[in-house]
Amino acid sequence: SNIPVITIDGPTASGKGTVAHKVADHLGFHLLDSGALYRLTALQALRRQTPLTDEHALAKLAEHLHISFTGEAIFLSNENVTDAIRAEEVGNTASKIAALPAVRQALFGLQLGFRKAPGLVADGRDMGTVIFPHAHTKVFLTASVEARAQRRFKQLIGKGISANMDDLLMDLKARDDRDTHRAIAPLVPAEGAHVLDTSDMTVDEAVARVLHWYAAFG
Ligand code: C5P
Repeated sequence: SNIPVITIDGPTASGKGTVAHKVADHLGFHLLDSGALYRLTALQALRRQTPLTDEHALAKLAEHLHISFTGEAIFLSNENVTDAIRAEEVGNTASKIAALPAVRQALFGLQLGFRKAPGLVADGRDMGTVIFPHAHTKVFLTASVEARAQRRFKQLIGKGISANMDDLLMDLKARDDRDTHRAIAPLVPAEGAHVLDTSDMTVDEAVARVLHWYAAFG
């Protein structure tokens, strides 16, 4: 298929979601927030009290997600869960179940389906390595753990949610560790990926860089 794909992978709170959104808006492309799929599965698992050791049951949950995206909102079986899936507990659970091969396999086809004309921007951990290895443009977005914790802190306070910097740092490091060292689809820059450290960069600067790479290597 010659429908272009731009992959944006990177660690938690690296800003990849925001950057992916803006790049997709700019180009009029579709957007795949693959982390949301793991978060939706995690939310279901938490609600149904599915043991996080029951790989088969978790894969079944992933396979039978009734999800829809409307603009910025994400629905799970007609319930708006846009905010619910952003909870720290859901993110941590997502990162645990994302280490299970059967769960990743269950979400594979669903992700490929997001590739539609005129193009797709896909963000996550393995967009460039596993899901879209032949993507037109691959980006690996990083930032120091301190910069990322600071961003997450501001986001939470902005939403009126109390946050503790030490806890955030600890959570981020634990999640980085899990995502980077897991046996399947670990978080690593894809072959041919442009690596971008956004620690001292604004969102718009990062967006401009990605758009440049996309345009320059047509
Ligand atoms: O990006 P986000 O923080 O929403 O992702 C939640 C979790 O889902 C991540 O910590 C990661 O473990 C997992 N994930 C993944 N592969 C992806 C996207 C997310 O393993 N492509």
